[in-house]
Amino acid sequence: MSSQPLNLAAYLTATKSTPLAIRDAPYPVPEANELIIRAHAVAINPVDYAIQAADTPPFPWVTLPRILGMDLSGIVVETGSSVTRFKPGDRVLAASDVIKKNASGAFQHFVVAQENMTSQIPESATFEEACVLPLCLAVAACGLFGRGYLALEYPTVPATKKWKTVLVWGGSTSVGCNAIQLGVAAGYEVVTTCSPRNFEYVKTLGASYVFDYSSPTAVEEIIDLLKGKEFVGAVAIGGFTSPGNGTAAAEACLEIVSKSEGAKFVAMAMVYKGEDPEGVESKFILGLDLKDNELGAIIFEDFLPKALEEGSYVYAPKPLVVGKGLDKVQEAFEVLKKGVSAQKVVVSL
Ligand SMILES: NC(=O)c1ccc[n+]([C@@H]2O[C@H](COP(=O)([O-])OP(=O)(O)OC[C@H]3O[C@@H](n4cnc5c(N)ncnc54)[C@H](OP(=O)(O)O)[C@@H]3O)[C@@H](O)[C@H]2O)c1
Repeated sequence: MSSQPLNLAAYLTATKSTPLAIRDAPYPVPEANELIIRAHAVAINPVDYAIQAADTPPFPWVTLPRILGMDLSGIVVETGSSVTRFKPGDRVLAASDVIKKNASGAFQHFVVAQENMTSQIPESATFEEACVLPLCLAVAACGLFGRGYLALEYPTVPATKKWKTVLVWGGSTSVGCNAIQLGVAAGYEVVTTCSPRNFEYVKTLGASYVFDYSSPTAVEEIIDLLKGKEFVGAVAIGGFTSPGNGTAAAEACLEIVSKSEGAKFVAMAMVYKGEDPEGVESKFILGLDLKDNELGAIIFEDFLPKALEEGSYVYAPKPLVVGKGLDKVQEAFEVLKKGVSAQKVVVSL
């Protein structure tokens, strides 16, 4: 019998900002629809350090010790019995669902991922580039295409124009960079907001119009722009570190949707505790909803590998690599806590 490889992980052993502890971990066993990936790069999301900083884990089923981390890229080392799209040696990116019961996340050498949340990556992509996408791609896809959210038509390669317009508030966030690209790939015209320093960047991702979210006239100007367009609704994204974690983004989108002709729906990247205006509906995006329905495979299997291969989908935002090794993950949390602008904090493994 061959012995299993040794695994190493960054464990969250306690909350209240207790630093991650690096120690041996069990080598994971894949279910039929899962694969094991040797992680070569991981990206950090605000939820990672939010769980660590909380007084108690924010989700009752998140028990400790736990391995956090939702974004990774690496090389497939093993596949479950029903996996057909991958074989050992394939270069991939994947989203790992650390929030679910008994889950174990990406901050370890050998990571479990579902087949429908994993995509092949081209030879030309570095692991550091590729790991910026999975979770925020999933969140953006859920908000734009999920049934019960905006339910837009799916992205295709190449895109087919729909002559309809979607608003992505917060286009330079990680979620926003994906929402712009997905909206464009689905054939929609994208209106977005960010700071002026990122105007050109979001245009390279395909946004047709960009406004400064901190301008007091942005809401009015967007309402004006949408007149005469077929408007299909909004995705509201704010900065996690900005005051109120996106309340301003939520309120701006609700006002625009309420005062414009078209779909009366706002998909919210963050929890919004205020009231929806009359006739408008909003819903918090459960970012990994798509792993349990057909949308996971539509995005990670049918769309993304093809779009990456032909270069119509890019690795955005750009990686900010903090260093190499699991002991750099805690340092990477500290970098993200200070806030980033159109960048994704990444650690090489
Ligand atoms: N629902 C889910 O499952 C899920 C999953 C992941 C993230 N999220 C949420 O999505 C939000 C974004 O997360 P992220 O990781 O994508 O963020 P991020 O990349 O860390 O966000 C940084 C960006 O926030 C932008 N920003 C700051 N204040 C803003 C405002 N008032 N309006 C619009 N943009 C603003 C900044 O833009 P400039 O530099 O251009 O000023 C900066 O580029 C957070 O609230 C996070 O909690 C939700």
